[in-house]
This record gives sequence, structure tokens and C-alpha cells, in this order.
Amino acid sequence: MLLGLLMTGGVYAVLAPATAQETKADQELIDQGRELFLVGCSSCHGTNGEGVATNRTGYQFGPPLVGVGAAAVDFQVGTGRMPMARPAQQAPRKDRVYNDQETEALAAFVADLGPGPAIPDAADYSLDGLSEAEREEAIVRGGQIFLTNCTACHNYNGSGGAMPRGGYAPSLKGVDEKHIYEAMLTGPQAMDVFSNGNLSPEEKRDVIAYIKSIENTPEYGGFGLGGLGPVSEGLFAWLVGLGSLVGFAIWIAAHTTRSQKNKVEA
Ligand code: HEC
Ligand code: HEC
Repeated sequence: MLLGLLMTGGVYAVLAPATAQETKADQELIDQGRELFLVGCSSCHGTNGEGVATNRTGYQFGPPLVGVGAAAVDFQVGTGRMPMARPAQQAPRKDRVYNDQETEALAAFVADLGPGPAIPDAADYSLDGLSEAEREEAIVRGGQIFLTNCTACHNYNGSGGAMPRGGYAPSLKGVDEKHIYEAMLTGPQAMDVFSNGNLSPEEKRDVIAYIKSIENTPEYGGFGLGGLGPVSEGLFAWLVGLGSLVGFAIWIAAHTTRSQKNKVEA
């Protein structure tokens, strides 16, 4: 295990500095980020992003942010997850509190704490440059990657699902291309990290193409039941299908001549 740790550390050290250097934005931005951070984030993450340790009630106020990188901040703040309103099982997506410029400053400050993944370029995640044929190919490749890597938690059509300990994997519909990329890059919460060594930037873009394609796919079978799979669909068949048959049988029984006769006699 030690060897494994040393090796990942070594590989990381070789790969990370290049991206870390880029995010060392100018000092002014970092200073602005520090000020925003002290006001909005330090109560949970510590004044220098060192984290605030678990207290006796079992809640972790906030993990250390040294080395999480600008991408994690851009994702967490950009999707409104941070600042978290109060300690809870999972930070839900909500309306964002900081505008683009402030988010950039916060990201610069956190990136300055230690090297981590940088905010991806539009060239990495955008599908705009692709021709129709290239996009089709990307969707097919992305679908395969999605099936092996993401469906376990996000469901085969990206509609999300429950996770252990009260958590959940959210629906992937309507999520920005950049935020999909950053989620893979940084692995928020219980999600795995798909580093660029794991899934190359091209593969990440293929996954984005696939997610965007299922977003636009109509429910061919009519009412989709949320696409939750065989269990919910089976339950639906039992409850609604069989239930209505049973109800109908009772209705017939209540309207036969025999039941009418009983009523008259009584
Ligand atoms: C009420 C406490 C609280 C506040 C305030 C808060 N956070 Fe967090 N933050 C958390 C907790 C708890 C987690 C870990 C759980 C999670 O990711 O949902 C977290 C996770 C994060 C992560 C992900 C770290 C990783 O390993 O990927 C980032 C980045 C982050 N916070 C940035 C911020 C920033 C920036 C602010 C201020 C704008 C902020 N947080 C405010 C509690 C807080
Ligand atoms: C082990 C389970 C797991 C796997 C595997 C997983 N995810 Fe996630 N994913 C999560 C959880 C849990 C969250 C919610 C994190 C949070 O709210 O902080 C999440 C969040 C996301 C989000 C953010 C959605 C939003 O509402 O902002 C995106 C995008 C995403 N995942 C994409 C993917 C993709 C693409 C893959 C496959 C390459 C994948 N995930 C694999 C569990 C998983």
C-alpha cells in the first residue's frame, strides 16, 4: 500500500505542477479570494483552508481544501453547493451565491493553497467544434464509458439514484458541460475521481456528448416513470396494473344480480 501511495504521489507530482502553475493567477485575484473566503467559507474550512475537524456530534464542518484545486471550487461554488448553509449529509445543488468573477477569485485563492486540478478550458469540454458525424461518434464512445463508469450511481439514463448513508447521486440532466467535466475531475463527495490519467480529456468530452444526447431523447415508451429501471416499473405494474384489475373485479362483484338481490332482501 505504501508503494502504491508513493507511486500515485510520484505520478501526481510529475503531472500536477503543469496545471498548478497555470492557476497561480495574479496576486490581486488571490487577495480578493482570500477576503471572500474569510467571510463566507472559513467558518467551516478554516482561515487557511486547513479544514475544521469533526466535532463530537459527528459532523465534519468542512474538509481541508489544500490541493483540491481551482476546479473543485469552480464546481462547488458554480453549482451553488458551496457555501453550504449548514452542516448536513450532502450539500445539494442550489442557486449560486457568488458571481463568475467572485468564483474565479475564490478558485484562485484555493489553488494558491496547494497544487490541484485547474478549471478546464472550453476546448476540453465544449461540443461546439464537433461536426455532426464527430458528435455521433462521441456519443457512442461516451455511452460505453458512461455504462461502465457512471451508471452504478447515476442510473443508466442519468436520472440519479440513492447512495448509502442517506446520500444520493443527482440527476445529470441540465448540468452545464463544464460542471460535468469538473465533477469527473474532482469527484465531489461519494463520487469517484476520474483523473485525466483515468479518463482522458477526450473521453470526458465523449461522456458529456452522451449525457447531452440522453437529455434530448424523448421517452419512446410514453410515460417514462422517471426511468428508474425494472424495480420501479415492476412495482408500477403490480400496484397500478394489478390493482386496477382487482378493483374492477370487486366492482363487477358488487353489481351482479346476486348482490343487488341481497340488498333488496335486506
Ligand atoms: C457550513 C459549512 C460550510 C461552508 C460555509 C462552506 N463549506 Fe465547503 N464544504 C463543507 C463540507 C461539509 C464539505 C464536504 C462535503 C461536500 O462536498 O458536500 C465541503 C466541501 C467543499 C469543497 C470540495 C472539497 C473536495 O474535496 O473536493 C470545496 C471546493 C469547498 N467546500 C469550497 C467552499 C467554499 C469556496 C466556500 C465558501 C464560498 C465553502 N466551501 C463554504 C462545508 C462548508
Ligand atoms: C460511486 C458513485 C458515483 C459514480 C460512479 C459517479 N458518480 Fe457522479 N455523483 C455521485 C454523487 C454522490 C454526486 C453528488 C455529489 C455532491 O452533491 O456533492 C455526483 C455528482 C455528479 C455530478 C454533479 C451533478 C449536479 O447536479 O451538479 C455530475 C455531473 C456527475 N456526478 C457525473 C458523473 C459521471 C459523468 C460519472 C461517470 C464518469 C459519474 N458521475 C460517476 C456519485 C457517483
